Amino acid sequence: MSAELVKAAIAAAEYAYAPYSNFHVGAALLLDDGSIVTGSNFENASYGMTLCAETVAIAKASSDGKLRAIRAIAVAGGADGKVAASADPITPCGRCRQIIKEVADLTQIDLPVHCAHADGFETYTLSQLLPHGFGPASLR
Ligand code: THU
Repeated sequence: MSAELVKAAIAAAEYAYAPYSNFHVGAALLLDDGSIVTGSNFENASYGMTLCAETVAIAKASSDGKLRAIRAIAVAGGADGKVAASADPITPCGRCRQIIKEVADLTQIDLPVHCAHADGFETYTLSQLLPHGFGPASLR
């Protein structure tokens, strides 16, 4: 299943809108019913407005009422439109880690994040990627 999710992330990068960086990223979310929600990065001429692939996928799931159904995440990306071509895994940026934390805290699941590279993928948990994070509990 993890390998299938990584494949879906790689396929999602096909729809990356990344004319400024040419760094194409795809993300895939596994839902509790086995279905997959994907996203790709969506850049803007005003660079800072860019949305990352993980954020797009999570917002898609949320707007379909599926935020609490997310069980795992895969991400794949690469420069010059070559996805999952580098030896090192592409891991979520800091902002995406924070957004993934919101899901992990909602579901009480330390979500696995499968990060693609040329030879397959590495799996990290959200708490490995974002230790000591700020979340809903911090507001109480
Ligand atoms: N990007 C993502 O989509 N996800 C990440 O976790 C890291 C960065 C995108 C943003 C931008 O369009 C491009 O990759 C280069 O930073």
